Amino acid sequence: MNPIHPALAPLARAAKERRGLDEELRKALAQPAWLRPEHRVGDPNGYMRHVLYVDPDGDFVITAITWLPEQVSPLHGHHVWCAFGVAEGELTEEQFGADLSPRKTVRYGAGDVAEQSSIHRVSNRSPAPLVSLHLYGVSAERLTTGINRIYG
Ligand SMILES: [Fe+2]
Repeated sequence: MNPIHPALAPLARAAKERRGLDEELRKALAQPAWLRPEHRVGDPNGYMRHVLYVDPDGDFVITAITWLPEQVSPLHGHHVWCAFGVAEGELTEEQFGADLSPRKTVRYGAGDVAEQSSIHRVSNRSPAPLVSLHLYGVSAERLTTGINRIYG
């Protein structure tokens, strides 16, 4: 049994088919009816991942991540495909080259879908909570270890 919020169903379909993903992500961010009050609360000990949907075949997961001000991800790449954007707040993404040299820093606001980048560090540099929506091509069992390749 894999219940899904109706606002995320078209996004899950796009992820399953690997088609029109950015467009459906943009729609899910523009009207985030799936966003629940607890998604805005966050964890003072670090960014907090909420699993919103798990594909029954283990092809992908949809998660919301809550970032309190000044919370930062590790510098990382991905073992699997990934797409993300911002539902609320402002997200800062530092992009790095394969040699880990800094490439550029991008800011995304509510409704924005992030560029595809291979190695990055994501953070909330704003004074308000941030909620981002992420899809990863990984099964739920591998969610904690199967996504990120951590550097340094
Ligand atoms: Fe990432």
